[in-house]
Amino acid sequence: GKGAAMVTAVAYRLTDQARQIQETLAEFRLSKSQLLEVKKRMRVEIERGLKKESHKEATVKMLPTFVRSTPDGTENGDFLALDLGGTNFRVLLVKIRSGKRRTVEMHNKIYAIPIEVMQGTGEELFDHIVHCISDFLDYMGMKSARLPLGFTFSFPCHQTSLDAGILVTWTKGFKATDCEGEDVVELLREAIKRKEEFELDVVAIVNDTVGTMMTCAYEEPTCEVGLIAGTGSNACYMEEMRNIEIVDGTEGRMCVNMEWGAFGDNGCLDDIRTKYDQAVDENSLNEGKQRYEKMCSGMYLGEIVRQILIDLTKRGFLFRGQISETLKTRGIFETKFLSQIESDRLALLQVRAILQQLGLDSTCDDSIIVKEVCGTVSRRAAQICGAGMAAVVDKIRENRGLDHLDITVGVDGTLYKLHPHFSRIFHQTVKELAPKCEVNFLLSEDGSGKGAALITAVGCRQRELEAQ
Ligand code: GLC
Repeated sequence: GKGAAMVTAVAYRLTDQARQIQETLAEFRLSKSQLLEVKKRMRVEIERGLKKESHKEATVKMLPTFVRSTPDGTENGDFLALDLGGTNFRVLLVKIRSGKRRTVEMHNKIYAIPIEVMQGTGEELFDHIVHCISDFLDYMGMKSARLPLGFTFSFPCHQTSLDAGILVTWTKGFKATDCEGEDVVELLREAIKRKEEFELDVVAIVNDTVGTMMTCAYEEPTCEVGLIAGTGSNACYMEEMRNIEIVDGTEGRMCVNMEWGAFGDNGCLDDIRTKYDQAVDENSLNEGKQRYEKMCSGMYLGEIVRQILIDLTKRGFLFRGQISETLKTRGIFETKFLSQIESDRLALLQVRAILQQLGLDSTCDDSIIVKEVCGTVSRRAAQICGAGMAAVVDKIRENRGLDHLDITVGVDGTLYKLHPHFSRIFHQTVKELAPKCEVNFLLSEDGSGKGAALITAVGCRQRELEAQ
């Protein structure tokens, strides 16, 4: 009778809804041939960044770092390090001892950088940084020691030496004025002078990927690649000097900071970008920039999820069709929440509890959908990140004329470390897309601090040699 017809209608609506949700998510599910295509395009952009005639327009910048070798264990001394551009801002004291029993001892303090400072004037930002250094030196009782300093500054910089870096463009959440186009080492030195409290010797500016590679290479000499999968996404590796056309000299190798986050900024990933990726981009501080990073790093994954959830809610598939204020709030789904939601140990009831914490009232069905959306978005992130890495290791293999390459990649970043599935899917993808390479992954312990100190140590030694 009538009851049966209604039941069928409801069931039909449900299956139709399930089908529409799956159709929405299907765009995020990339085939192996699509991933191979991503790898291939990354390779093309790598070449464009390295070549003199295309470097200027290239989106993947392949920036020289003036780091010419990995550590050899003879590094020694006490160093200060700054770490700006990751999840936290930190000041560190790093004591490196060479010899039979090599040791690295570290002391560090985390400081907050308020949004007003991240997005205020450059002078305010650097005054704040120097204020934090001053506090740290007081805390350690070291105001009078004129220590060499390594500055881990995790943004694209055009380097002309180890201690000069012109900021190409801010990325991630930073937008301080009057810094782009300036040498950030000079900005730091000037701020230290303004303060008139202590002297420091700024020896090196270091990208976090490079710090990570160097830290891992200190333990494992086969480490010649660095990867950050955290707030942002980026990689570096040891490239042959003869291939780095914008630096003089053809002998040996130099570490190149790829700045692969900007991959796709010329439109070359448009066929796999979804309307949700476009919405995330339009909502960001740097529209049109860092398009690859916006598909695969911690700062943006939650935003992609949020855009999908808004759309599914509008279409009546979620949250009883009600878009809450929470769902309209930028940045609510931080990496740590996504990681919790996707944890296999978590019962659906706990997923609902997390959503509740965020201020989202969900039914059991809602929580199933939310979990699937998160899983789909983070899987794609791990896969396209893996496709990028596959391009890098294959390039290194070809550089060396090898049929088979054994190599270690040093890795850091909250997404890689905290997320329950990202690293596994990433590893699998690299293996599948670069079958001629045997890639080892080594977690870096505090790469930004330790790595900056190691590079500073090498820089100090080079200076002494040059002075002789
Ligand atoms: C952004 C920065 C890059 C950094 C990465 C990871 O992509 O531009 O320099 O390495 O984030 O922190």
